[in-house]
Amino acid sequence: MKKEVIIKKLAKEVKNKLNNECSGHDWWHVYRVWNLAKQIGRKEKADMYIVELTALLHDIADWKFYDGDETIGPKLARKILTSHNVPRNIIDHVCEIIATMSFKGADVKTKMKTLEGCVVQDADRLDAIGAIGIARAFAYGGHKGRTIYDPQRKPTLHKTKDAYFKNEGPTLNHFYEKLLLLKDRMNTKTAKELAIKRHKFMEKYLENFLEEWQEKLINNLSIS
Ligand code: ADP
Ligand code: NI
Repeated sequence: MKKEVIIKKLAKEVKNKLNNECSGHDWWHVYRVWNLAKQIGRKEKADMYIVELTALLHDIADWKFYDGDETIGPKLARKILTSHNVPRNIIDHVCEIIATMSFKGADVKTKMKTLEGCVVQDADRLDAIGAIGIARAFAYGGHKGRTIYDPQRKPTLHKTKDAYFKNEGPTLNHFYEKLLLLKDRMNTKTAKELAIKRHKFMEKYLENFLEEWQEKLINNLSIS
């Protein structure tokens, strides 16, 4: 089967599976990552077949929703790609990227081995920041039963995947624990450029959020 036909079929399959997901890992997240990955991949001269297959399958089964099991995503991706008769070496490459690209804590290294891995990780991370990133963070927080903000609970820079996974802090902490760190961790020049505007918007958003919260005023009321 032609590459374009496989990609089209795959997109349809992923859309059907993730259509009503409501934690910010829905089909439209995948669609945006797919588009961003195409934009970045072309500029960086990556293998676009690998980039597109990986972008489409990267959140097919996220470890964060399967008790921290990192093998679940690559296993399902392998099964789907095998059903489309994609060659073994391509499946291995796609699955290696899916297994390693996810953010796992501020102090946990997730260095990508290949250009295609760098491209898809950057695309996924761009969709985690900016206006859409803000919406996704609060959607995820609500889905997981997290509070919006609690001035008495400070952000932590997690040293292990386990600590990051078990963290139940307010959603606003996630900005300091992950989202604001991403701009300087983009792999490609193209993504570094795209991240600037999104990062600035988040900074402004947080400034307004904390101003509206009037934390100092509330503390002065000394309610205990
Ligand atoms: P990654 O694989 O790098 O984690 P995903 O595509 O799975 O990327 O999306 C991660 C997104 O999920 C975050 O950017 C954020 O929007 C949301 N998210 C994950 N953990 C939290 C959290 N603790 N609080 C709020 N949002 C979160
Ligand atoms: Ni994603």
